[in-house]
Amino acid sequence: MLEASRRWRREGLSIGLVPTMGALHAGHMSLVAKACSDNDMVVVSVFVNPIQFGPREDLERYPSSPDRDLELLTKAGVDAVYVPTAAAMYPPGASSRVRVGRVAEPLEGSLRPGHFEGVATVVAKLLNATQPDRAYFGQKDAQQVAVVKRLALDLDTGVEICVCPTVREANGLALSSRNAYLGPHERKAAASLSLSLRWAAEAYAKGEQDQSRLRRGILDILEAEPLAKVAYAELVDPETFGAPGTLAVLAVWIGKTRLIDNHDLAQPFPG
Ligand code: PAJ
Repeated sequence: MLEASRRWRREGLSIGLVPTMGALHAGHMSLVAKACSDNDMVVVSVFVNPIQFGPREDLERYPSSPDRDLELLTKAGVDAVYVPTAAAMYPPGASSRVRVGRVAEPLEGSLRPGHFEGVATVVAKLLNATQPDRAYFGQKDAQQVAVVKRLALDLDTGVEICVCPTVREANGLALSSRNAYLGPHERKAAASLSLSLRWAAEAYAKGEQDQSRLRRGILDILEAEPLAKVAYAELVDPETFGAPGTLAVLAVWIGKTRLIDNHDLAQPFPG
């Protein structure tokens, strides 16, 4: 991959990178579309990064649809699909890891130890392998965005981190590869995440600024859903992920599936 990227750069072509773990959906494809409109060349990486999964997480059953992914990416007109193997990414002896620090510590960072170290390490490797001008990430994974922005700045990558809005289903459910795990009842229950965020954005717009009342209202909606179990629901600063702030971030178990969602309450909820 590095050779192609170097050639493109020598030719003066701009490069956009969209890192993914495959099982592509319209959320991923919105990043791809933006990358295609901003850059001369677009690389999409498809790599289920083993080191960002915890020992009790879903690495073994993570959804995969390589043929369909390739078809979607070809239709979208991307210039390269980078599909490294785990053995090529982490050969015997490879031991370096990227640790981003404070922004990676709370919430997802504390409930999924090692997760952001895995994400930061693979993102740094993908940036090095593809030498992009811009890299595209979804607001859906808000803490990942904050971690990647910090990393890009701290490590002098010179890469512009572009953040794309969360793509949702008609009922508000944020698209996610993990939605494939949900049964029909769970799918309905999963709408409670976006319902609670919509409620909070509306309450905020009507003048409710009290953090604990906003949080209580979000929890009330989530706890009214019998299939939902809240891992966290907090209001944080979108850059530092410390409290207080206007970014409402949620992680909720729906049965055996862990979903995350977020919304900046200072913005109207879409749809
Ligand atoms: P993955 O979950 O495949 O997501 C790839 C990119 O798509 C991420 O930037 C994610 O935020 C974005 N995305 C997912 N669902 C979205 C939605 N509904 N709307 C908009 N964007 C959405 O995130 C990862 O992979 C990995 O951690 C990765 C960055 C590739 C590192 O391994």
